[in-house]
Amino acid sequence: MAQILDGLKVSKEVKAEIKEEVERILANKRRAPHLVAILVGNNGASKAYVNSKVKDCEEVGFSSSLIKFPSTVSESELLEKIDELNKSKDIDGFIVQLPLPKQIDQEKIIMAIDPRKDVDGFHPENFGKMALEMDTFLPATPFGILTLLERYNIETKGKNCVIIGRSRIVGKPMSILMGRKDFPGNSTVTLTHSYTEHIEEYTKQADIVITALGDPNFLKKEMIKEGAVIVDVGITRVDDDSEKGYHLAGDVDFESCAEKASWITPVPGGVGPMTRAMLMKNTIIAYKTSVY
Ligand code: GUN
Repeated sequence: MAQILDGLKVSKEVKAEIKEEVERILANKRRAPHLVAILVGNNGASKAYVNSKVKDCEEVGFSSSLIKFPSTVSESELLEKIDELNKSKDIDGFIVQLPLPKQIDQEKIIMAIDPRKDVDGFHPENFGKMALEMDTFLPATPFGILTLLERYNIETKGKNCVIIGRSRIVGKPMSILMGRKDFPGNSTVTLTHSYTEHIEEYTKQADIVITALGDPNFLKKEMIKEGAVIVDVGITRVDDDSEKGYHLAGDVDFESCAEKASWITPVPGGVGPMTRAMLMKNTIIAYKTSVY
């Protein structure tokens, strides 16, 4: 039976470390780090994510602000707000929750964010720095996965790592980070996606599988190797008869894969809480490196 990569536990450790740092900052009579989140429209999942980010800020002692726009907001209104946040000396980092409504050009919005305040690590300048192994903000989910692997001392050097999904937020940056020269990296990386033929031929060879495709129970026991490390980024709302009306399902058939894997992340309680903790980490990094 696989051992659990307990993201909830590690995220609490990371947040406790950040909280201690904030306490030291406040003891030195400096202001607390300040994170701003922009939420556009009424997407239920986005609202829930943003609310948890605000809650995390409270927990670690950061200031936070939530700026809401209706789904009808224009691109120029949004760009104006971003300009204001870029210039504000009281704000260390901000995020624009994705996805955005169709009338808004997402790339234009991301490009408008000052890279020094881009705590999501989505700006092309930060993405490029990440790829070139320069100091920068790492996107929160990949950063969270690396931290989880690191704290459990999972060997990645020389291992076959198969990533499923090539999103800009998870799959693509993850494929770069796992192949970087620093720890935990040095893996031989295969990035698979919706056009990959016979995906199981790749996953069966993998020492580490990272799934980020949003297809509940996609990865089955027959598709993995004995002793593999399984990281499940998928978190899909599946409607059911419960009080809430839905439950969260990962990409991995946990029950069957846990019989064969050496390590596995649960959903919930695996990658999700790590993602949240790393946004806090990026915010305190932004605070400490800010020129103000
Ligand atoms: N939508 C889904 N995940 C994320 C994230 O990490 N950051 C932002 N800004 N939007 C998201």
